[in-house]
Amino acid sequence: MRVAMVPELVAKLTGLGYEVAVEPGAGRHALIADEEYAEAGAVLDDGALDGADAVVSVQPLGTDRIGALRSGAATISFLPTGQEPEVVAALRDAGVTSFAMELLPRISRAQSMDALSSQALVSGYRCAIVAAGMLRRFFPLNMTAAGTVPPAQVVVLGAGVAGLQAIATAKRLGAVVKAYDVRAAAAEEIRSMGAQAIDLELDTLEGAGGYAREMTEERAALQMERLTPYIAAADALITTAAVPGRKAPLLVTSAMVEQMSPGSVVVDLAAETGGNVEGAVAGETVRIGNAQVWGGQNVPSQMPGPASRLYAQNIVNIVTLMTRAATDEEAGAFAPDFDDEIVTGSCVTHGGAIHHEPTRAALEGTN
Ligand code: NAI
Repeated sequence: MRVAMVPELVAKLTGLGYEVAVEPGAGRHALIADEEYAEAGAVLDDGALDGADAVVSVQPLGTDRIGALRSGAATISFLPTGQEPEVVAALRDAGVTSFAMELLPRISRAQSMDALSSQALVSGYRCAIVAAGMLRRFFPLNMTAAGTVPPAQVVVLGAGVAGLQAIATAKRLGAVVKAYDVRAAAAEEIRSMGAQAIDLELDTLEGAGGYAREMTEERAALQMERLTPYIAAADALITTAAVPGRKAPLLVTSAMVEQMSPGSVVVDLAAETGGNVEGAVAGETVRIGNAQVWGGQNVPSQMPGPASRLYAQNIVNIVTLMTRAATDEEAGAFAPDFDDEIVTGSCVTHGGAIHHEPTRAALEGTN
């Protein structure tokens, strides 16, 4: 499990003028001991939530804990508003100002705060390592006196931050990698990682901000049909496709997986958000035809140390943005500037109301 602050970054927050309180045991699953936080200048406090001006966490606080916050306090965490309507309602009703990592605008000024990217980097690496670990054969080519062992054939679907990292990792291990993504820029990015960009001779699909758009049924069927031979020939298939604000697209049917050879493996990073692969189950390895299919669940937490370190740096950068600079008369204070698009874009609840309009419309109706 990840933790939102690491000892080596505590001094960044105390340097801004904050007192940092950490719940005892918060870092245990990321292999960080309470003493390390204390040595770094944090206070270990069971009641850390009471009276806090800002609470930082990886997952949103549960509804049972939101009551401990004072009205006007702020929270910064991942907050999938569509999946957590009760949490959003509780934050609104408690008068808490909440910020969701998922909603940070992807502008260059916000890159250092972009936790979706930092955690996708971890997930992408982990996916390739899981595939290599599950495959009962070499990733690299081996030419030996006892003969030549051919390299593994790896196919990656979805080449965003996670997919590109999976490609890079599989390449470093020596596999032959082919990849496909619907975005126009993706082919060049795939090639820059040393992989072959699969050309399905289909139109590219781009929506606002350079993100992927949802496929039509017709397009999805054609994409599946044309991907089938690539998947049948793969020893390992890694899928990472996502469309912002939507369920993950289904890219691979079980009939397609059934064409893979004995011993082949499938790693579906999107299993938790709907699944790119039919039949994949988050947190489990299931067998489909000849393939072992691994469904990702909370994948960044499988490398909790580095994932926490990256996340904590994102948090420090956001908190810094939201802190009024200390002056001679006054210590720094948590005071987000609602004229800043990073602040207003990532805010879910504020002043007893739902600030994020799509979430408000979904929870309260449009009237
Ligand atoms: P994501 O996690 O939302 O989705 C993963 C990938 O799946 C995307 O590349 C998407 O095009 C692909 N995909 C969606 N539907 C697909 C389908 N039917 N078949 C195959 N692939 C499909 O993506 P991520 O990692 O968030 O990156 C998306 C875009 O955002 C990229 O253009 C990336 O360069 C950009 N980006 C910008 C940042 C910034 O400016 N701060 C930071 C990170 C990413």
